[in-house]
Amino acid sequence: MTDVISQILNRSSEPRLESPAPGASVLDTVFKCAARAPDHALLRPWRYLVIEGDGLDALGEVFARTADAANPTALPVEKLQGMTRRAPMIIVGIASHHGHPKVPPIEETLSAGCGMAYILLALEAQGFAGMWRTGSIAYNPVIAEGLGLAPNESIVGFLYVGTPVSEKPAIDRPDPDAFVSRWPG
Ligand SMILES: Cc1cc2nc3c(=O)[nH]c(=O)nc-3n(C[C@H](O)[C@H](O)[C@H](O)COP(=O)(O)O)c2cc1C
Repeated sequence: MTDVISQILNRSSEPRLESPAPGASVLDTVFKCAARAPDHALLRPWRYLVIEGDGLDALGEVFARTADAANPTALPVEKLQGMTRRAPMIIVGIASHHGHPKVPPIEETLSAGCGMAYILLALEAQGFAGMWRTGSIAYNPVIAEGLGLAPNESIVGFLYVGTPVSEKPAIDRPDPDAFVSRWPG
């Protein structure tokens, strides 16, 4: 079994993360991996924001702007402010939509999603861990504005990144027979 297969087969997302966050040279490798994402027409339809330290509190303030006292399902301000401190680093994945005649927006989002998965794998291969989160916040225009996204950009996720505190309990993984079939049979 190759290293990459073994790593994929043994990986899992980790919600409990602590310092240290990856340093510059680990991140350099991580983002070189992100740049290997399949990319129709080579539009490079992605970019990433790295947020740590005080930036996490600033992001928490941006999250807090989505609080809505009139909406009983909305999260309260204090919870929104504190969410960004669940890890020592957050990488925000952003897809951009170029209006290319042969590349619909979904393909640009998929390319950015591949980049997120490569980032996660590259972090895990270097001893770090992460958890990809979205929630309604990721699609809230208040957040897009607070992070300075252009009108043709959208958030694909917040990757909470750090050193795993402890391994989460193993998740049952479906057997390929459950989701793969031959066509036409
Ligand atoms: C686009 C996307 C958004 C996600 N958003 C959330 C989220 O907001 N909250 C959450 O608990 N898990 C979220 N997840 C799932 C976790 O990142 C993770 O994949 C899941 O807990 C399964 O763990 P595993 O990666 O070890 O299989 C999301 C996954 C994807 C791909």
